[in-house]
Amino acid sequence: MRTRVLSCLVLFALAGAAPGQTLTIYSGRGEALVQPLVERFTAETGIEVSVRYGGTAELAVLILEEGRASPADVFWGQDAGALGALSQAGRLLALPADLTAGLPGIFTSRGGFWIATSGRARVLAFNPAGSAPEPWPSSVFDLVDETYRGRVAWAPTNGSFQAFVTAMRVVHGEDLTETWLRGMIANDTQAYRNNTTQVEAIAAGEVDYALVNNYYLLRFLASDPDLSVAQSFFDDGDIGNLVNVAGAGIVVTSGNVDAAQRFLRFLLDEQAQRYFTDEVFEYPVTTDVTPDPRLVSYGELLAASPDVDLDVLEDLEGTLELLREVGLL
Ligand SMILES: [Fe+2]
Repeated sequence: MRTRVLSCLVLFALAGAAPGQTLTIYSGRGEALVQPLVERFTAETGIEVSVRYGGTAELAVLILEEGRASPADVFWGQDAGALGALSQAGRLLALPADLTAGLPGIFTSRGGFWIATSGRARVLAFNPAGSAPEPWPSSVFDLVDETYRGRVAWAPTNGSFQAFVTAMRVVHGEDLTETWLRGMIANDTQAYRNNTTQVEAIAAGEVDYALVNNYYLLRFLASDPDLSVAQSFFDDGDIGNLVNVAGAGIVVTSGNVDAAQRFLRFLLDEQAQRYFTDEVFEYPVTTDVTPDPRLVSYGELLAASPDVDLDVLEDLEGTLELLREVGLL
């Protein structure tokens, strides 16, 4: 009996988990993507995981509402705005420096409160067989020019588009952002429901360009390699190339900080990083993994990305107000 208890203790010590320990994750990332990883984590560490799935913004609000009673140990969302809202409200623990040390600036919180788990870049999609590639706009601000009249798609109700508008407000100010939005409307920019329908609109010849996230096209190409749509960045540093993140942080009231840190480290390891780029065509955040070859290289991504503090993209309400004011919502 004594030996059995001892060997149990040894097993748990090896696994680094206390008996009965359960890590609670609030995940704005979908179950189909997350569940296989969670199972691998439990198999490797012996740490049981319970996941509450929901919308990224909705779960961040829930953590704020639950306050000190929140059962969440880890928040994992797919928008820097939600991570910023939690860190600014003092709801995320500062992470140990070694966890963030190897990551480029665009993939960490400046305050050290969360890590990116993958990157999601804004790109300009186009029809390579059409007239679209000429002249290639150097900036998203160029799309208000007469040359692009009626030829560009956007999705004003889409969360990724709205995060991009928030970043534009932060970097270029309210006035310039409003001027750009009104200029785009005046230039007959075509509104679509989401990223998917925008990519389809290019393939169908309805528009020549679309402001989308990088991974949609690759999902289409996985089933139809001949689809006549390509994508590229604007000039290096342009706000149109915003790299948003899926990312994770540890909730300040967590009683499982060690297990939570292990989970974050696990998300940064090579297997998990490869999984993100192979499964959903996002960018890996660590240089150990080469992204899907149809995505631009890691070095190009870092060069293209604008310099934006992802911790201050939390003002979605201000963006929604502006979009309503100009008549887009
Ligand atoms: Fe998306």
